[in-house]
Amino acid sequence: MSDWVEIAVRLPVAAQEAVSAWFLDRGATGVQEDYPGLFPGDGPVVSGDPAEWGGDAPQNPAPDVVLTAWLPPPANPEREAEALIAFLRELDAVVPGAGESPVEATPLPEQDWNSAWKASWQPLPVGQCLMICPSWTPRPDAPGRIFLCLDPGMAFGTGTHFTTGSCLEFVEDVMTAATAPIDVLDVGTGSGILAVAALLMGARSAHGLDMDPDAVEEARQNAERNDVQDRFTASVDPLNGREGAFGLVLANIMAQTILRLADPLVACVAPGGYLVTSGVLLCHEEEIRNTLESRGLAFQRARKDGTWVTCMWLRPAL
Ligand SMILES: C[S@@+](CC[C@H](N)C(=O)[O-])C[C@H]1O[C@@H](n2cnc3c(N)ncnc32)[C@H](O)[C@@H]1O
Repeated sequence: MSDWVEIAVRLPVAAQEAVSAWFLDRGATGVQEDYPGLFPGDGPVVSGDPAEWGGDAPQNPAPDVVLTAWLPPPANPEREAEALIAFLRELDAVVPGAGESPVEATPLPEQDWNSAWKASWQPLPVGQCLMICPSWTPRPDAPGRIFLCLDPGMAFGTGTHFTTGSCLEFVEDVMTAATAPIDVLDVGTGSGILAVAALLMGARSAHGLDMDPDAVEEARQNAERNDVQDRFTASVDPLNGREGAFGLVLANIMAQTILRLADPLVACVAPGGYLVTSGVLLCHEEEIRNTLESRGLAFQRARKDGTWVTCMWLRPAL
């Protein structure tokens, strides 16, 4: 099999558009942008008044962007690197510094990425009672566990990522302790994994929201796969706080989005109900805490790994 070439360059943001266009002209199947300053180790990226951000995108504190592109076979890493370096030298006249951008090109053996990913994702026990099972694998023997059969498609949410797994554990905590019917709001539902899990654990209803229409469709299909579609609704409508009062609100979305949506998120938590926040880097934990506590939520507990923190909050009963 012939090789693809993965080619990456770190350059001034001002050169980004020209170099992205150059990659696409050269046949790249995709160009990924990474902002070095947004990596967790680089510290907080937002501060101050959320009203000033004016949108979802956090500010990039670094002057650089890393572009990575994939060129289909037949492609030669040395030739591609040389061609890009020559282009960057020309571009230097317009964007000073572009000519010194470090370039790295490596061969990638051709493979069926989708099949490779599918083979690598295996049934996964989560918490005490759940078993996430890819829809294409046979169910393993797991007595006493509730099976959640899932095909995420292109949507986020397989259960393998800490932010999802830790939310699922909080869902289990809430559902096993519940003494009354629980309605769930899942903001940023992705594959629908959290909402479907809550329904399988006995939630009365779940409503998923996602800005991505494909995710909404995947979530609906996953609800059907698990035969909970009668209790599941999903929509692309933006959260406005008037969706209702829910015993459990789940928000595995970025810290910046949680901060921006703090008012409507809190408004949707019924008195005596819980909010679970996830997708939050450790460096944003305090900011999230201050914001939610100032709106009357009481911190309950957190689950952390070396990068992320997932928290559960209670809206005290009236
Ligand atoms: C990290 S994924 C979480 C998926 C799933 N809930 C899970 O826990 O694995 C975040 C999802 O939130 C969606 N999203 C991001 N910002 C949003 C917003 N402002 N409103 C609704 N959905 C949003 C994204 O499209 C994405 O599907």
